[in-house]
Amino acid sequence: MVSEVKREDDDALIAAARHIRDRAYAPYSSYLVGCAVRADGMVFRGANVENASYGLTLCAERVACANAVLGGERDIEAVAVVTESSPPAPPCGMCLQTLVEFSRDPGAMRLILVNLQGERRDFTLAELIPKAFTKSQLGG
Ligand code: THU
Repeated sequence: MVSEVKREDDDALIAAARHIRDRAYAPYSSYLVGCAVRADGMVFRGANVENASYGLTLCAERVACANAVLGGERDIEAVAVVTESSPPAPPCGMCLQTLVEFSRDPGAMRLILVNLQGERRDFTLAELIPKAFTKSQLGG
């Protein structure tokens, strides 16, 4: 059944995000974030990487996007983000904008936000960033 497959896919994406969260480097905030994105059946992962110069910090979602792009993928279909927050935290604005860049249809990109206690919230990218800046704005 299609819905069965989708649930398994979601579970695998969440598990990948939960697993990579353990690799986060967050000695300053102690706030660990794991992210996994699915594109063309493949899963790419990211975790936040902080720096003593705080502004250089890389968010988990942007690391996962970069890994997808370097893996040859530019059309992300689904994203899982794992944090300790309750309710489960959404990506920051900068990460939402980055996801827009690699989404063919923000209304169809699914964001699955979960926390360590098992709470889950589902959104589309368009719900979280409804009026994004896109390349259509460039060039007048
Ligand atoms: N962080 C992410 O990894 N993703 C977000 O979308 C928001 C924040 C990280 C950055 C920093 O290492 C820590 O969470 C606290 O802001």
